[in-house]
Amino acid sequence: MIEPGQLQVSHQYTKASGNKIYIETYGCQMNFNDSEVVVAIMQKEGFAVTKDITEADLILVNTCSIRDNAEQRVLGRLRELRAIKRKKPALKVGVIGCMAERMKEQLLEKEKAVDLIAGPDAYRDLPVLVAKTGTGMRAANVILSHEETYADINPVRLDENHVTAFISIMRGCENFCAYCVVPYTRGGERSRDPETIVNEARNLFDAGYREVTLLGQNVNSYLWKSSTGANITFPKLIELVALVDPKLRVRFATSHPKDLSDDLLRTMARYKNICRNIHLPAQSGSNNILQAMKRGYTREWYLQRIAAIKHYMPECTISTDLIAGFCGETEQDHQQTLSLMREVGYDSAFMFKYSQRPGTYAADNLTDDVPEDVKSRRLTEIIDLQNTLSAENKKKDIGKTFEVLVEAVSKKSKNELYGRTSQNSVVVFPKMNFNPGDYVMVEITGCTQATLKGKVVE
Ligand code: 5AD
Ligand code: SF4
Repeated sequence: MIEPGQLQVSHQYTKASGNKIYIETYGCQMNFNDSEVVVAIMQKEGFAVTKDITEADLILVNTCSIRDNAEQRVLGRLRELRAIKRKKPALKVGVIGCMAERMKEQLLEKEKAVDLIAGPDAYRDLPVLVAKTGTGMRAANVILSHEETYADINPVRLDENHVTAFISIMRGCENFCAYCVVPYTRGGERSRDPETIVNEARNLFDAGYREVTLLGQNVNSYLWKSSTGANITFPKLIELVALVDPKLRVRFATSHPKDLSDDLLRTMARYKNICRNIHLPAQSGSNNILQAMKRGYTREWYLQRIAAIKHYMPECTISTDLIAGFCGETEQDHQQTLSLMREVGYDSAFMFKYSQRPGTYAADNLTDDVPEDVKSRRLTEIIDLQNTLSAENKKKDIGKTFEVLVEAVSKKSKNELYGRTSQNSVVVFPKMNFNPGDYVMVEITGCTQATLKGKVVE
């Protein structure tokens, strides 16, 4: 941390030495939105963002610790940045986000390229930390906060399409799933003032955006205690955002199965602009493994939540996260995961091999005993099954008509647009006179593995 006395001198030095930042982001949507908050903080201090890394005076790497391979990628990148720094000694490099939080000492000791470290709750301190590096020192702040939500900061949008945007509604997590590093890197759970969330959504709509995704590690436990004593829960919050305008689509991520309430499902069903897709990470289909993971629900509870979703919104799609090869996972447990996938019929999934994370309950108390080749084989089986399920679901959409929100011109052809249905399926169709931000009725005529193809209907 910086002493206040050092601040002013070094700050002047920074301004004199160049003010262009290049930021690269690894990991989840929350990290992406955090980068937008960081840019807002830095712009206020006179820094400018550049998309050209060769112009940068400061490179910030916003990092992810969720699995070992995410960290290895960043460590590889830091070696590349070290080579760039050799040619441009005035260049500063900062590591921010989850790896900064988890590996502060190691980064300062071993990574010669790193001048600055800031954890997820320390972004307001970045201008000060940068100023400190201007004196040739290395600077770090990894203090986690019980209050920080960056509620008053208007993120500078870094998305490419200007149609869809993220809004963080809470930070941190207190679920302490046995495998997960997030509660340690992002700290305790706190919710953001709903007024600032609704204002942000309204401002985005006024600026032409047509979809917001409300972000949190566990959005269902969002809770704001207002000064008048009235509590705003997640269903109430999402209703307030949906009411901004019927033409503003609202999505959210991520829901924890133990907290997915009927109240939320009823609210979703009432508003057409709350999207018909729920991301509900199952992690495993086996009760033994769910218990070992400390997930707080059983397979039966999970399936009952799926039934509730289908009851209120039969047209709702469901996506999930699955982990292959958690500690103690037997062949039978793995088969249970495959059978859960078939039973739910997921539309899509993020699928991972278990990666032991230092400091977690599993690392300290359980044995990472599934051999690497078995983990890989199980993951392959999970991925193969998901590909089959996704293809089956896509085929079912052929002949149906969906309202598609256009996001951009297709990467493959400038005569085609792509957008999403409320169910979160990507649709490609002829451009005609439509533009990003338009809602278009599209009849599905075919599909490839990842995309639906369609034609416009009047
Ligand atoms: N190993 C593998 N996957 C993990 N996830 C979280 N921690 C780990 C880990 N240690 C997965 C979970 C979570 C998603 C964001 O990442 O499936 O839902
Ligand atoms: Fe990690 Fe579990 Fe929190 Fe998700 S709910 S961030 S998996 S601890």
